[in-house]
This record gives sequence, C-alpha cells and structure tokens, in this order.
Amino acid sequence: MGTEPAEATNSDDLSEPIKRSALQFLQKGCIAIVYRIKSQPALVIKIQDATYHQNEKRVYEKLGRHPRISAFYGEAAVQQIGDLPSPGLLFGLVPNGTLREPLRARPGNLLPSVQGKWSAQLLDGLSYIHSRSVIHGDFGVHNVLVGLDWGLVITDFAGSRLDGSPCLTGPSPAYRRPTLLLPPDAPGPWEPTERDDIYAFGTVLYEMIQGALLYRAITRDSVLTSFTAGLYLDLSGMLALPRSIVLGCWKCQYSSARKVAGALGLS
Ligand SMILES: Nc1ncnc2c1ncn2[C@@H]1O[C@H](COP(=O)(O)OP(=O)(O)O)[C@@H](O)[C@H]1O
Ligand SMILES: [Mg+2]
Repeated sequence: MGTEPAEATNSDDLSEPIKRSALQFLQKGCIAIVYRIKSQPALVIKIQDATYHQNEKRVYEKLGRHPRISAFYGEAAVQQIGDLPSPGLLFGLVPNGTLREPLRARPGNLLPSVQGKWSAQLLDGLSYIHSRSVIHGDFGVHNVLVGLDWGLVITDFAGSRLDGSPCLTGPSPAYRRPTLLLPPDAPGPWEPTERDDIYAFGTVLYEMIQGALLYRAITRDSVLTSFTAGLYLDLSGMLALPRSIVLGCWKCQYSSARKVAGALGLS
C-alpha cells in the first residue's frame, strides 16, 4: 500500500454501526480521535464534534480523489457509547505518521532530492485544493501524512474554508501569517486565503531544509511578534534560491502555489 490505499478497501462492509470494541485507538489530534478498524486494516475512522464532521465531509466531497489528498471513503456510524459522537469519517490508513515526527525526533538535514520531491508534492496538493475553492487554513507538518512509499498527503480539512465560508480553526503560530486578522474571540471563524496556505508552506519548506521544526530556532511565544516586526530568522546558512522562496512565502509575494513551484524550478 502506498499513499493511495488499495482500491480493494471495502467500506460497504461498514453499513452496520461499528462496535466500539472493533476500534483500536490510533492517534488523537487537536480536535478529533482517529481509530483503526480491526476488520478493515486499510481504513481509519475519524471521530469529532458534529460541526467539524459536517464541514470536513463537505470539503472532501468537493475535493474528490487526488494523490496528494487523504483518500476519503465517506462516513460510517459507530455504536454510540458514552459521549463518543457518531458517525465518523473513513479514510485510507496512511502508515508512517505525520511529517512532524521525523522533524521533531531526529533533527538533521533531509536529502535535497527528498526536499525537492516533497515540496513538489505539497505544492501540487495545495494547488489542487485551491483550484477546488478550498483553503486548508491549518496547513503545517502536523497535517501532512507520510505514506509507505514516503509520498506525502495533505490531511485534516475539519476547519477548512470551502467556497468562501469562514475557517473553523486557525493555523498554529509557526504557520500563521502574523497579519492574519484574528477574530475577537479566537478560535475561529477565520478568513484566510491562498496566501495564508502559501505562508504556511514557507514554514514547512524552512523546516524541511533545516531538517527541524521552526520552534527549534525561535520560541513559540516570539514567532508571531518577531515576524510581525519583519524580524525573520537568519537564513544565511541556506542556499540563495530556497532562502528567497521561504522569505517570499513569508512575505506573501506569491499569488499561487504553482508560482512557488515555478520559482523552485519544480514545474
Ligand atoms: N488517514 C490517516 N492515516 C493514519 N493516521 C491518521 C490518518 N488521519 C489522521 N491520522 C492521525 O490522527 C491525527 C489526528 O488527525 P487529524 O485529522 O489531524 O485531526 P485533528 O483535527 O484533531 O488535528 C493525525 O495527526 C495523524 O497522526
Ligand atoms: Mg490535525
């Protein structure tokens, strides 16, 4: 199985509510809990509050299938026990965790060929979602999954913006354009644009080049204040081309993900 789970995946077998005992905890995110389904090893089910559930379902229905987007298999009911919401959303299992883990656990340079391949994949995914009138709104290494073949897929559209609706969640500080207008009672609704997703890609590109999370170089508390004042990091250790692209994303100089890919020589 690669980033695209086997088409043999049969979510039709899930027409009956899934018993709680048939689920095996996989991961907890900021909002959702994701379980493996014991009888369906190629699938996971994501369970979350109804508002996020409905929003994410609408977004995936609009997105359809794309090699750089989590493969969505519709919804399935889970036998109600306690306050576990039901139904959940079904996705193909992407087996190697998020892109955050390798950058957090084993800081070190990624091969330039891997950086290039991953940048091309992420920009292809972002370009596709923007073409479908979706703004991710919470793009970052925590919402990128790594497939068995080390191909990347973008995931977690629970708070995303579809056809101009407000986002229900905002980007985390490392990936948030400092001038993104915050609502008075954060969190959400937020109204980010393509340029906000591209800003977040700038941080992801920085992290892939450094082989480490941004928070290794700057503290969580100071990132927004420093960047707002135009005090970016010292990028002098980076080659001129990627440096100009990271800064270009952070300064919102690109109007589309395609333009970033072009500037990186990827298209
Ligand atoms: N298709 C998947 N395959 C494997 N793990 C997944 C999959 N989808 C989500 N996960 C895991 O579950 C975590 C939470 O999922 P996510 O959709 O990001 O929810 P949240 O909105 O709570 O952040 C992810 O960080 C990831 O570790
Ligand atoms: Mg997430």
